[in-house]
Amino acid sequence: MTTKIWTPSSWRDKPIVQQPQYPDAAALNKAESTLSQMPPLVFAGEINQLKTDLAQVAQGKAFLLQGGDCAESFSEFNADKIRDTFKVLMQMAIVMTFSASCPVVKVGRIAGQYAKPRSSDMETANGVELPSYRGDIVNGIEFTESARQADPERLVTAYHQAASTLNLLRAFSRGGFADLQQVHAWNQSFVTNSPLSNKYQDLADQIDQTMRFMEACGITAQNTPQLHETSLYTSHEALLLGYEEALTRQDSLSGNWYDCSAHMLWIGDRTRQPDHAHVEFLRGVKNPIGIKVGPSTKIEDLEQLLETLNPENEAGRITLIARMGADKITECLPSLVRAVKASGQQVIWSSDPMHGNTIKASSGYKTRSVDSILREMKGFFEVHKAEGTHAGGVHFEMTGQNVTECIGGAYMISEQDLGDRYHTHCDPRLNGEQALELAFLIADTLKAARA
Ligand code: PEP
Ligand code: CO
Repeated sequence: MTTKIWTPSSWRDKPIVQQPQYPDAAALNKAESTLSQMPPLVFAGEINQLKTDLAQVAQGKAFLLQGGDCAESFSEFNADKIRDTFKVLMQMAIVMTFSASCPVVKVGRIAGQYAKPRSSDMETANGVELPSYRGDIVNGIEFTESARQADPERLVTAYHQAASTLNLLRAFSRGGFADLQQVHAWNQSFVTNSPLSNKYQDLADQIDQTMRFMEACGITAQNTPQLHETSLYTSHEALLLGYEEALTRQDSLSGNWYDCSAHMLWIGDRTRQPDHAHVEFLRGVKNPIGIKVGPSTKIEDLEQLLETLNPENEAGRITLIARMGADKITECLPSLVRAVKASGQQVIWSSDPMHGNTIKASSGYKTRSVDSILREMKGFFEVHKAEGTHAGGVHFEMTGQNVTECIGGAYMISEQDLGDRYHTHCDPRLNGEQALELAFLIADTLKAARA
């Protein structure tokens, strides 16, 4: 295979799917050129730090927690929402750190997760056919001709929204909001109030005792910044390549290229064709890269992707995000895990137990059940145990808000409840309580996997 020279725009010569049709090419050029003049959202040093952290995960010394909205929206953009997502991620991270007894690398699907791949280019309702909604960075969700037209101005709006989101996340991470005592207190209040309180109390008590012990030894937030501060990295699907290209910068120190729209980018299940544009773009930037691995992923394709995207076999560069579905995971994953192991590639295997478990409720809502999500995660850990590989992480669609989009959990959300607070702009998310419950429910699995 001959490898051509990479440039931030070399993807433009490759076949590409899942891109919007912009009616006004001049307006698109203008928006992309505006973005290319903007300051980067993240900088190379941070991206390198995430890769170093992820290398620890690849080596089985840390665990990855990735989560956030399926699609961030412009309408639900506010401080409380950002705060609540941040808060739940921190709450989950403590539980996981304790049960896995290792550092947890925290990565949000946030500050850039605006573009969505769709199963069909067009949507029909009441005999009218319009372009599908592709995320707020592209068009509007309302089913009208004007809303559904792809509008390049949205690229710039998304950039500014990502910048303010990141600004607040940085403040929370460093300003004391992530204080371990505080996060633990929130967890205790969650456990006390949960209908399944008994189930979670034991673990919460153990964490409590450990914190008291540390305090008795003189380890406090005042003298130990690790207890008071945290790092939350950002990630999104690198789908809309015009946006990604416009935010790609060359590091003046190393000469390397970085996609400065987020720390980590991933390739979706629909855009991972080895000879297509998305792979071409991502091969040239130094960021950590996720690759969604679904039931249709072929071993040869996966091997080729790893060769193209990580020719130097750098640990921390690649996270393979398995999203098979609860019924398929133990059948589809082992051969892929074996092939990757045999290739000698250092990767992280992470479990996305959301995207293979989407069902349609009788009411018409897309939903997922907490049970099938848990079942897929357990299957994922089982496979890695059997193969002698490290189950390195989990990837959730979740929000801190009290939505009713996924069924089940301690509060037993039913199909009938879905209409109450169904706010997602795309796929159904776990609400704050369901997400935290899952962290408690996999505690034993995590502990066993690390033993
Ligand atoms: C997603 O993560 O929102 C997504 C679209 O996933 P996948 O590419 O795995 O279907
Ligand atoms: Co999704």
